[in-house]
Amino acid sequence: MAKPPGAARSASEHDDLTGSVLAGLRKSPKELSPVWFYDRLGSFLFDSICELPEYYITRTELEIMRAHAAEMAQHIGRNPAIIELGSGTSLKTRTLLDHMEMPATYIPVDISREHLMDAAAALARDYPQLRVLPVCADFTQPFDLPPALLAAAERRVVYFPGSTIGNFEQPHAIALLSQIRRLIGAAGAVLIGVDLRKDPRTLIRAYDDSAGVTAEFNINALRHLNRELGADFDLEGFEHRAVWVDEHSRIELHLVSKRDQIVHLGGQEIRFARGERLHTESCHKYTLESFANLAAAADLSVSRVWTDSERLFSVQLLEPRTIQ
Ligand code: TRP
Repeated sequence: MAKPPGAARSASEHDDLTGSVLAGLRKSPKELSPVWFYDRLGSFLFDSICELPEYYITRTELEIMRAHAAEMAQHIGRNPAIIELGSGTSLKTRTLLDHMEMPATYIPVDISREHLMDAAAALARDYPQLRVLPVCADFTQPFDLPPALLAAAERRVVYFPGSTIGNFEQPHAIALLSQIRRLIGAAGAVLIGVDLRKDPRTLIRAYDDSAGVTAEFNINALRHLNRELGADFDLEGFEHRAVWVDEHSRIELHLVSKRDQIVHLGGQEIRFARGERLHTESCHKYTLESFANLAAAADLSVSRVWTDSERLFSVQLLEPRTIQ
């Protein structure tokens, strides 16, 4: 995808986006990229999900960061360059920066320019000794580092919280970790948030909350398609579902068609049978062992793991296995 949905784009980029959405809708089972979650309302709903009582992830990761940030900072070492992928509001990063030896460099990488610039300005104000070099980019694609960083010999540490790695299917997760491995070089490190396998009921509750916020977040992808690409999804015609798929060790989010219906997009007709599912997101859950294997496939080894007392979530320090 050339540009994220919502960005200003030409007619041909509009056609490319329509083409890639149609390709997903023609698959069996039908699928839609999770990028469609994130318009203005979607970003707001996502922030609300993070505060839900059933959604233990954000709260638990923050608790782990608060309890162990001093030790994490010690492992990271002096004067690092912290590269955060999908930095958003940089909230969790602050726990780390509070313990970091300054001066240090912080490179927030985010696709949403507005969020990125606001967060970067706030950090530069609150941490006067921190050099902040924001990069507006889609971190799943190779991106250029700021020239000021390329010249420096600081230890490169990628910070990748939120269990975002879990939203990638295994081959893509390995490809992304390999890209991170190349970015950090032989002496670098990765600090990554990884959600752990647990009772499926706890997982399903986290992705199908009683207030219906996650349902609204999922349905909003259709609203976004209607607005941006002129589709005519009936928002009342679909319902949110979160299912645990044990063989893939993941939660899948689906939108289930409530009846037989036809949706129009880009001059095409898409048929949905009653009960048919549109797959919008996957959230993979790892054991410490299965994640170590994933990291190893990207030439990274796990040097430290921090978890909460209930072992719901983990923050892991990865370092290169070999010198390349
Ligand atoms: N990575 C987090 C998770 O898997 C956040 C997230 C990504 C999420 N996509 C989502 C949360 C969809 C709820 C619904 O939990």
